[in-house]
Amino acid sequence: MWAGAAAGLVVLVALASAFWSRTGTAAPSTSRELASGSRLYVTHCAVCHGEGGRGDGPSAAGFATKPSDLTDGRLMNPLPDEFIVNVILRGGPAEGLSPGMPPFGAYLGEAQARDLTAYLRSLAHPPFRPEAARALVTVPGAPRQPIFFSHLIHAGSFQIDCQHCHADARRSKYAGLPSVERCLGCHKIIGAQDNPEIAKIQQYASRGEPIPWVRVFKVPEFTYFPHKPHVRAAVACQTCHGPVELMREVGARTGPRLLNDLANLVGLRPAPPPLTMGWCIDCHRQSNATRDTQAPLDCIACHH
Ligand code: HEC
Ligand code: HEC
Ligand code: HEC
Ligand code: HEC
Ligand code: HEC
Ligand code: HEC
Repeated sequence: MWAGAAAGLVVLVALASAFWSRTGTAAPSTSRELASGSRLYVTHCAVCHGEGGRGDGPSAAGFATKPSDLTDGRLMNPLPDEFIVNVILRGGPAEGLSPGMPPFGAYLGEAQARDLTAYLRSLAHPPFRPEAARALVTVPGAPRQPIFFSHLIHAGSFQIDCQHCHADARRSKYAGLPSVERCLGCHKIIGAQDNPEIAKIQQYASRGEPIPWVRVFKVPEFTYFPHKPHVRAAVACQTCHGPVELMREVGARTGPRLLNDLANLVGLRPAPPPLTMGWCIDCHRQSNATRDTQAPLDCIACHH
């Protein structure tokens, strides 16, 4: 019994820490990595991205979507290493970007892509701080969407506010998804000519069809979940949805219920998985106890 409980505890601690995100483990890069990265950069990248990385290489003019300014720390610093390595080895389309960024996987290995990444980090203004680096978050089972829309790029790199696109969250039950017109507000120009994923937006618009996004977070019909009171009570979106700005594809992690049930069986009281009734109630209790809120605990508030 005790052995079981102890083993359960170990599993749970591991699970809890693996739950959403891990902060980056980026170690400061060595001079060997930087020298190797710098050599590879001159050979393979400078022709488009320019000697200094500003996106002004001799071939840059030929691209509708210009080679990125790799020195712009505001855009580059929030991108996890895995993203940059993936773009280098598998090309822009592997992260939804334009095919103007070619794949180098046939010429470079993973270690070389990491050296290049270390070198790019050293070019950033404002400077890249390894201790602030965060890892990419992938959620198993995230659905494939009709357009490869990346929150990592929009909300992470470009830091577009969540409510710019999910504008109903503060005033209604629903957070809402952006209309095709909202996308076109930026994409009439950005990427429209040479990124096939972005061209799809125009195709939906000209057919007069909404984009058929696949729903991810969902509570059953018999429950009532309103966004407005939560947003007004300053509960961050990420508390419930995870670090969306680090996700290439959004998925809902509701947690392993079997392990939860086992843990309850051996007398532990694990935190209930997101989107379950226990999860709603736990937070309501806790926030009423600690924050002077009136989050409801009566059945009728959530079931009517
Ligand atoms: C043939 C031209 C070309 C070459 C060669 C090239 N790139 Fe690019 N790269 C691009 C273009 C164009 C983009 C912009 C893609 C977009 O924004 O949709 C890009 C984007 C990127 C990005 C994404 C940055 C961001 O804005 O998110 C990284 C990282 C990158 N390149 C690194 C490299 C590295 C490292 C090399 C050398 C191994 C390299 N590129 C070689 C054209 C090139
Ligand atoms: C506030 C401006 C803005 C809005 C609104 C916006 N985007 Fe973007 N989007 C950008 C920028 C900036 C990029 C980066 C372009 C680049 O580097 O190539 C981008 C890149 C993309 C890309 C390529 C990278 C990726 O995410 O896979 C796709 C696809 C895309 N957007 C789809 C959409 C869709 C669909 C909508 C509407 C739901 C939308 N965007 C709304 C600014 C915007
Ligand atoms: C440029 C527009 C844009 C921005 C900015 C944006 N989103 Fe989204 N969001 C979308 C689109 C489009 C979808 C549907 C496709 C998908 O699931 O990736 C979506 C889906 C979602 C979903 C899943 C919806 C479902 O079906 O359950 C959540 C949760 C979400 N966004 C949260 C956020 C949060 C939190 C932020 C800020 C950190 C944010 N979004 C920023 C456009 C945006
Ligand atoms: C207290 C937890 C909680 C917070 C905080 C929260 N959400 Fe949600 N969100 C949910 C739940 C639960 C659902 C599923 C609702 C349903 O099925 O009716 C959801 C659904 C969504 C959806 C799917 C479409 C919709 O409108 O239902 C989007 C998009 C979304 N949330 C974005 C956001 C954004 C952006 C924020 C921050 C401004 C946010 N959420 C804050 C719990 C939360
Ligand atoms: C992370 C914390 C948190 C989670 C998780 C959470 N809530 Fe809440 N909820 C709150 C807070 C805080 C308030 C009260 C705000 C106030 O006092 O106005 C609230 C208020 C409500 C209200 C009252 C609305 C009103 O008009 O008074 C309902 C209904 C509700 N939540 C349903 C849910 C449901 C259903 C879930 C689970 C799917 C859920 N909540 C998950 C924090 C949370
Ligand atoms: C804060 C919101 C909230 C309150 C208060 C609440 N519930 Fe729920 N309840 C939920 C959510 C969300 C679900 C669906 C998720 C799940 O099955 O865990 C649910 C599911 C259920 C289910 C279905 C369980 C299943 O296994 O499918 C029943 C029955 C239920 N609730 C009864 C009650 C009763 C009785 C009360 C009052 C004592 C109550 N609920 C109070 C949010 C709430």
